[in-house]
Formats: sequence, structure tokens, C-alpha cells
Amino acid sequence: MTSPDLPAELKAALDAKLKGFSRNDAAERSASISKTYRDGGGSGAIRSETDALAYALARMPATYAAVTASLNALGEIRPDFAPTSLLDIGAGPGTASWAAAEAFSSLHDFTLLDANDALRKLALELVGDSFRLRSVKYQRGEARSLLVKAQAADLVIASYMIGEIGAAELDALAELMWEKTSNTLLVVEPGTPAGYARIIALRERLIAAGAHVAAPCPHDGKCPLAAPDWCHFTQRLQRSRAHKQVKGAELPYEDEKFAYVALTRAPVAARPSRVLAQPDLSKVEVTARLCTPTGLTLARISRRAKADYAIARRWRWGDAVVDGS
Ligand SMILES: C[S@@+](CC[C@H](N)C(=O)[O-])C[C@H]1O[C@@H](n2cnc3c(N)ncnc32)[C@H](O)[C@@H]1O
Repeated sequence: MTSPDLPAELKAALDAKLKGFSRNDAAERSASISKTYRDGGGSGAIRSETDALAYALARMPATYAAVTASLNALGEIRPDFAPTSLLDIGAGPGTASWAAAEAFSSLHDFTLLDANDALRKLALELVGDSFRLRSVKYQRGEARSLLVKAQAADLVIASYMIGEIGAAELDALAELMWEKTSNTLLVVEPGTPAGYARIIALRERLIAAGAHVAAPCPHDGKCPLAAPDWCHFTQRLQRSRAHKQVKGAELPYEDEKFAYVALTRAPVAARPSRVLAQPDLSKVEVTARLCTPTGLTLARISRRAKADYAIARRWRWGDAVVDGS
């Protein structure tokens, strides 16, 4: 399992970049960019070098943690997956490329696409001293037009990106992302009902185009969750001093809620159930809400079933589990 915390090389590059910048300025820009996001805006508000750095300090640790958690889940289902090429769509400061490089030592061909010049510049500075990433290809422009010309990659990732695309355009973008996926497509979104809805719509569309779900779902059928429920997960990450200052936060950690889907060309062999919320652990039993290959279930694993209980008491929200209850 890859750690959800930023790799030392990236932390050092961010810290070096922060020297010479006022943390107060970065905090102000970060608050204003966050407000734009909360009000439904996108990355258009990120225009200057300070904006890009403020965004990276405030959001990169959390989006990195969410992508890493999703890649860990994928790796658990497909331990032999060893991609050599990556397409990072809406790459921003390069978050998903860093996460994928950590998760897969096999990756050596990285292509990043984004329309935002300030984020692209920052991404290229951050990878400047990285042995694995310094030779990335980073193309600037509209995702769709760049994708048409792009070569297919083993692994394609769109992290916290599709929410910035209009509904009409998203269908076309989804098809194009799939066309350029030679093995696996991972889409990660905020763990909100709206983020989940986008993931589910894309999932349905691409299953109809022949995709199979590797994670989190143990099936390719319709999602069995109904509103007000939505499928999402959470990943805890540590906050650095700079991260706390820019966010004006006290706690040394943050919990990032995210939704994701990993779609593959070939069906996966293993289809374990997925834990949909933090299980309840009592002296009598473990109660866990699971999505199974045949639908939702509330699994109750009695303490009397000693071996099963010993396993189930270690279950965590988001885990892939074999339900023997
Ligand atoms: C919220 S940021 C996420 C950045 C990065 N993937 C991450 O996880 O940290 C969304 C990114 O998508 C890019 N983006 C949005 N719409 C785009 C489009 N139509 N073409 C290219 N890039 C786009 C934005 O410029 C921005 O960098």
C-alpha cells in the first residue's frame, strides 16, 4: 500500500517554492480559490504563480491522498497490473502523476494535459528535480482537443477534473478518455452527492461502451444505492505546517472524502465486497454495510464465529472484503 501522504521529494519541492512567498498572501488566495470552488466555480480563478501555489498547498495533499487511496484499492484487486504509460487529464499541479509514480514503479512514460498555464508551470517546477518525473510531457490546452491527438496509455486518470466540464461535453470527454485507455481508467471526484452522481453517470456510460469495474464496485450492474445515500470513501492525511497555515487550520490531519471508479478493458478475476461505511464493532458482533456482487447487505459477524469475527473487526470503510457471514 502506498502512503497517502505526499512523497518527501514533492514536499521538499513545495517547501522550496514557498520560500520567497508570503504565507499570508498564499492563505488569502487559497481562501478565495476555495470559495470559488464552494460556489460551484472551477480552476479558472487560478491565474498567477501565487494562485497556483496556494491551490497546490491547500488542495494537493488531499487530492493526492484520494488518488493514492483509489490506486491502492485498484492494486488490491489487480496486484499484477504494471502500467508503463500514464495520461493525466486535467493534471493541474501534477498530483495524480505523482501518486501514480509512487503506486507503480513500472510507469516511465507520463503525459499530462491541462488548460491552465499557471498550474502547468508550477507542475513543471515541482518535477524539476524528480528522477522519475522530470521528463514528463505536459501539454497545455483543452482536454478534448489534446486527447484526440494523444496516444493511448495503459493508465488514464482524471482526478477532480470532470466536475469542471459541462454535462453535454462530459459525455464526449468520457468516450474519448475511454478510447485512449488501453488498460485502466481511473476517475476520482469529491465525495459529495454531486461528485458521486458524475462518477455513476460516467460509469454507466462506459460500461455500456464495454468497460468493466475493477473498484470500488464488485459488479458491473446498476449502483444499488438510492438517494439520500451516495457511495463515497474517506482518506486521512497529515497536514504539514505550511498546509495548516495556508488553510488556517489547527488539526494536524484532514479527512478527504472522495468518490471514484476504476474501469478496465478486461473483466477482473476477483470481485470482493466493498465496505460502504465504518463498521460498528460491539462485544457481540461486527455490523458492516457491504456492497456485494449481488447487492447491498448488512453483514453481522457474531463474536461466536471466532475466526470470522477476528477478521471482520479489522474491516475499515472502503476495504475490499470476503464476506463469510
Ligand atoms: C480541481 S483541478 C484538479 C487538478 C489535479 N488533477 C488534482 O487532482 O490536483 C481541475 C483541473 O482540471 C483542469 N481542466 C478543467 N477543465 C479542463 C478542460 N476542458 N481541458 C483541460 N483541462 C481542464 C483545470 O485547469 C484544473 O487544472
